[in-house]
Amino acid sequence: MTIAAKEPASVTAELIYFTPPADGSKPFTDINIDFSKEGEGRNWTKVPHDIQIENLRGKEGSVTLDHNGFQFFNGASKHTSFANDAEVKAEYYPESIELVKKITGASRIVPFDHTVRRHRPGEFDDGPERRQPVPYIHVDQTPSSAIRRVHMHTSKEDAPKLLEKRFQIINLWRPIGRPAYDWPLTLCDFTSINYKQDLVPMTLKYPDRDGETFGVSFNENHKWKYLRGMTTNEFVLIKCYDSQEDGKTALLTPHTAFNDPSTPPDALLRESVELRLLVFYD
Ligand code: OGA
Ligand code: FE
Repeated sequence: MTIAAKEPASVTAELIYFTPPADGSKPFTDINIDFSKEGEGRNWTKVPHDIQIENLRGKEGSVTLDHNGFQFFNGASKHTSFANDAEVKAEYYPESIELVKKITGASRIVPFDHTVRRHRPGEFDDGPERRQPVPYIHVDQTPSSAIRRVHMHTSKEDAPKLLEKRFQIINLWRPIGRPAYDWPLTLCDFTSINYKQDLVPMTLKYPDRDGETFGVSFNENHKWKYLRGMTTNEFVLIKCYDSQEDGKTALLTPHTAFNDPSTPPDALLRESVELRLLVFYD
């Protein structure tokens, strides 16, 4: 069998959309939700749909950050262990700032959070030190929580000035240690989204404060894509927010992990790291 024959042009898999609570109350999700416990840690209803997901292997360059909301790149990180938070901050944060500055032309980048995920089949708890792939469609920030992040992670003097110019939140996502065939990440093309209809603000409950994300309602127009078997020499930039609301620029990207039916039986379990960045322009 040739490699090409093994590489599917698309796969069909179940993705979990959402529907807000019927009583009109604001949807919420607990950051430490245990998905095996129905009715705990969230007040919204899962809406599973079988979705055709395009495999961009061989056409990695067909999507861009500003048109579709996400973009794939080549390049391994120098830091590879991701075992120790202090080391990640000391080593991976600075190299990622330089990398994303080069790609975007941004003048200042402030990393504010990273998450290492390791798939543990049969286990459903998702505590802070044991995050797993996220099995439902979401957007990490809303405009109001994005702006709040700027106030949280820059000085009182800087924040108002930074907010006068273009600013984005971008996730830098990459596999750790092995190709990510198992429970890969799929992303929704921004050009296929109806922003007003499809996105519903949702409270994300941290132990000490409330954040805000978007839940995503089903829309048959949505175009879902992924890069099958992303390697440790590849990474994806995922736009979560952009202040440049000009009607052309991609503002965000819904995404979710999914159970890929084309995963080779001997594939190692997915491990990945995502770094969240405030990205400012002059
Ligand atoms: C993210 C995200 C989920 C996953 O990077 O924001 O939602 O399963 N990741 O990697
Ligand atoms: Fe996310």
